[in-house]
This record gives sequence, structure tokens and C-alpha cells, in this order.
Amino acid sequence: MAKRKTKYVCQECGYESAKWMGKCPGCNNWNTLVEEIEASNMKNRHGLGIDKRSISKPEKITAIESQKEPRMTTSMKEFNRVLGGGIVPGSLMLIGGDPGIGKSTLLLQISSQLAEKQLPVLYISGEESTRQTKLRADRLDIKTDMLYVLSETNLFDIANQIEEIKPSLVIIDSIQTIFREEVTSAPGSVSQVRECTGELMRIAKTNGIPIFIVGHVTKEGAIAGPRMLEHMVDAVLYFEGERHHSYRILRGVKNRFGSTNEMGIFEMKESGLREVLNPSEIFLEERSQGAAGSTVVASMEGTRPVLVEIQALISPSSFGNPRRMATGIDHGRVPLLMAVLEKRVGLMLQNQDAYIKVAGGVKLDEPAIDLAIAISIASSFRDQPTKPDDIFVGEVGLTGEIRRVSRIEQRVQEAAKLGFKRVICPKKNLDGWTIPKSIEVIGVDTVQEALQVGV
Ligand code: TYD
Ligand code: MG
Repeated sequence: MAKRKTKYVCQECGYESAKWMGKCPGCNNWNTLVEEIEASNMKNRHGLGIDKRSISKPEKITAIESQKEPRMTTSMKEFNRVLGGGIVPGSLMLIGGDPGIGKSTLLLQISSQLAEKQLPVLYISGEESTRQTKLRADRLDIKTDMLYVLSETNLFDIANQIEEIKPSLVIIDSIQTIFREEVTSAPGSVSQVRECTGELMRIAKTNGIPIFIVGHVTKEGAIAGPRMLEHMVDAVLYFEGERHHSYRILRGVKNRFGSTNEMGIFEMKESGLREVLNPSEIFLEERSQGAAGSTVVASMEGTRPVLVEIQALISPSSFGNPRRMATGIDHGRVPLLMAVLEKRVGLMLQNQDAYIKVAGGVKLDEPAIDLAIAISIASSFRDQPTKPDDIFVGEVGLTGEIRRVSRIEQRVQEAAKLGFKRVICPKKNLDGWTIPKSIEVIGVDTVQEALQVGV
């Protein structure tokens, strides 16, 4: 038997070293290096049941057959769109999210939808017994013969079952419970997660079977295990939402087969997740019209425009250091936009507390929302409501200029569709497209102009 070597692996970042060190040179954390037995003789590495590896040679690009990847589509359009149009055969996808947010529910529903199309699906749970999965399936009203469930944590046995059943889709719930025998550390450790993911990748690629793996999220919001995990897989999706709200957002943060930043919206009901096809309506549902500090922005989420309310509360600060708080947007934008308003418009904001919130628990991260934030701040500060039928779009520059945004036409169309009357947008965006008849589009060059029109 080959001699087994040990190595030291940082449990935070995956840094490897031949000798022990108190401080990890990779992430500068203390006491994170743990001794592990190297998944030794590398020959064995690919020894799990279904090794069909062949030696590959370079090919001329013109000689390679170009084929459109046939994608498997589920009956949830929102889900297909986040993946870029469906599930690509042989891809490995990671779904991350807080415990209890609905990952298992979502994947079980997806599984049953494919199974109903007569595609065999293998749902492997390392967290729940098959009885528990059955209970969930009953709640979701799943009755299909093609859905197989397995309660198993040993990757070797999992690989054998995949070989036997030859499913069209495999779900691993969750990667933190799966282990390989050769690796001595506990399931969920960096080396287990990495080794198991590597093996699953190989199974997916050699058999052309798409695999979803569930990954839990740590307190800091990253998927537990090394960052490396995200690099290994083909697509990374986050399932998020506030537990007290019934809305859930599926967000693509990495996708080798489609665009990222795509988001799908679902609602958690008694009988499982339902897709929400008209998100703007739900985001604006609870809006109190005519309140100071509220504006609506048309923001692009991937390829789709959504209308979202932005709220600001500006009130005199009772402390020397005024507060600047923001939920749903980049914290850094708030002091910046307040400085622009102070310097270019002359609003005395420096001794005011500012709280900014994107309603509905959405996160917006494109610069086109700047103008709406600035208008909200000014509206709350002056205690003057904006018009309830106005939409604001535009990036704000440091001199107070309003900069061009992408896809103005789609944003305006969405606003018109939902019955808004005016869009205040960058003047530079006005050319080259036809404005819908039902809506007025007002171009502005500076924040001052926008304030005159809007507040
Ligand atoms: P779950 O899918 O177990 O979350 P995760 O796998 O991300 O940990 O979701 C659990 C929550 O969803 C739980 O609080 C109950 C709720 N739920 C419903 O509201 N309706 C349903 O039909 C199901 C199956 C779960
Ligand atoms: Mg679960």
C-alpha cells in the first residue's frame, strides 16, 4: 500500500501547506490549519464505479461538431430563465441559501416537474430520511413514478446508484452532508466539500447528467466551504428572501451557459413555491402613495425590468455623527449622493440622519437607481411627496450630472404597462427609440432639473 501523506489545510480558505502553521498565509486567520490525510494514491481518485475517462486530444475547432445544447426545461419559467433557458446536460450547479429558505422545496418541485415529463430524477438527501422527503412531497402533491429518492451520505454509494438508475437529473441535498471515505476529515469540512464536488463534477461530465448541489450559507453570507467551490461548478444560484416575507428570489451569480444577474421570483405558499411572473406588481403592492421620501425606479434585473419602490427617511440627527443606513443598496452610494445633493443643490444634509430602504426585500445594484435614491432623499428632507405616477431612472455623477443608462426602452415600457404617467430619465437617453403613447418621458441633464420636475 502506498504511504499515506498528510497535509495541512486551512478550514477557512483552503490554503494547503506541508507543515503546520499558526497563522494561515492565505487568509491571515489563526489556528485554522488542520491536518488531513491526503486523498492519497491519486490513481484511486477516479476509481468510483463509473470511470469512463478517455484520453483527450486537441482537435481543430472547425472539426468539432457544433450542436445546440438541448436544454431541459421545467414548467417554471422563472427557474428556466435564471439558468439561461433551462438545464444544460452534464452541468454541475450549486444552489446556496439560508437554512429554511426553501431550497429543498424548490428542488423537489423541479424534480417532480421533470419526472412528470417521463425523465427519471434521483433526489438524494443527506439531511432527511426518505420518509421525511415523502412527507414534503405529499405537501407538494407530488405523484410521479419517475422520481426516485435516496437517503445517503456516502459518495461511493451515491455514485453507484447514479450508475444504476441513470437518471436525467440528480439532486444532492446538501453537499455539507456528503463524504468520501478516503478523506478522513468530517463531512462539511473544506477538504470533504472540495473532494466531493470534484467527484460530482466528474460524474456529471462523463455521463452527461446535470447535478444540482445544495450548499448552506454561513453567517457571513458565503456558501460554506472554500470559495473554490464556486469556481468548480458551472453555475451558482442563490435562493434568498426574508423569512418573514413569503417572497423568495432566485439569483444567478455565476453561469457558464447564460447571463448572470438574472433573477426569478417565487412565492412560498402552503402547497410549495409558486412563480411570480409580474414582479413589479408585487413590489409596488404595499406602496403608500403620496408619502414623502418614496419614489419608484425601473431597475434592470438581468434581462428584465422591474419597478421597485425606494424609501428614504431623513431626520435631524441628535448625535454628532449622523447615521447613514441603507438596506437593499450599496451603502457607499448614500453618503455620496447626499454629498452631491448638498454641494450641487444646496440641501443642508450634513447634520441629518438618513435611512434608505428598497421595499420588498430586493437588492438593487446598478447605477441607474441613483436618481431615484437622490429624489427620495430630497423629498423626505423637504417633506414634499413626489407624484405617485412618476418613475425615476438615471445615474448621478459627482458634478450632479445625470448619466445615460442601458435599456431605457424596456424600462419605459414596463412603467407604461403598469400605468405610470411619467418617466424622468437622462436627456442623453432620449434619442433613437419610440416612446410609447401612453406615457410621458422627460429628459433631464442635472439633479437640480430632476428635482424641479419631480419634487
Ligand atoms: P426547505 O425547503 O426545507 O428549506 P431549506 O431546504 O432551504 O432549508 O423549506 C422549509 C420552509 O418552507 C419551512 O419553513 C416550511 C416552508 N414550506 C412551506 O411554507 N410550504 C411548503 O409546501 C413546504 C414544503 C415548505
Ligand atoms: Mg433543506
